[in-house]
Amino acid sequence: MRIEVNGRQVACDDTGGAGVPLVLVHGFPLDRTVWADQTSGLADVARVVAIDLPGFGGSDAPLGPVTVDAYADHVRDTLDALGLGTVVLGGVSMGGYVAMAFHRRHPARLRGLVLVDTRAGADSAEAKKARDAAIALARAEGAGAIAAQMIGKLLTPAHAAEGDPLRTRLLAMMGAQPRETVVAALGALRDRPDASASIRTIAVPTLVVSGADDLIIPPTEAAAMHAAIPASRLAILPGAAHLPNVETPGQFNAAVRSFLAAFPTR
Ligand code: MLT
Repeated sequence: MRIEVNGRQVACDDTGGAGVPLVLVHGFPLDRTVWADQTSGLADVARVVAIDLPGFGGSDAPLGPVTVDAYADHVRDTLDALGLGTVVLGGVSMGGYVAMAFHRRHPARLRGLVLVDTRAGADSAEAKKARDAAIALARAEGAGAIAAQMIGKLLTPAHAAEGDPLRTRLLAMMGAQPRETVVAALGALRDRPDASASIRTIAVPTLVVSGADDLIIPPTEAAAMHAAIPASRLAILPGAAHLPNVETPGQFNAAVRSFLAAFPTR
């Protein structure tokens, strides 16, 4: 469905229902449909809401500057429009950066966090250079070129192989994102602040998840976040790379289900 937020249309999938609200933010350069196995698989224990960040999927392009903090404010404004007070906020990779920014900016709206294949640290000088190269590539050749560059690292070799349905689905999802959205998001990723200190102040229960075979953000990052966040638990999922929610949805959903069991339904 599409809802109006600050005069712009935002696309989201909202399962409705009475469970704890679990709001999910996609990674780069993906959209809310990357959470399809969670909207279908967790609707009996949570009100699952997967949202498109501005410019991605079915959401209108952003009007103002594009930063990770602005994405976090967009999530807050979307919660307001949906009538959601406090939520469990989950994000994969870039979505995790947004969730950590949300914690810095809107901690009173959080009931819990699910941080998936993400990292607290900012980009290194080398990573910033790689972002600039990716921006140039996206400008010249569009989202498809970025998709082609990323696909081999998003999935384990079995699923990244030519002809695999997951590979095909993710390539289509990434390739469909508008060029300007991808360029702007890469700038936001490059310039995001370091969350290493702020995550130590997270006061809500937090589930940190990583695919055991993630080459983009290795599981050592998840272990470090788990060590830094006081009330956190860690799940390293075998057989998955950067997107365990799509690659091993059964074990991913089991980890989230067990984490959510501690939350009152209202
Ligand atoms: C993502 O999956 O969202 C990106 O890989 C994040 C990043 O490049 O830092």
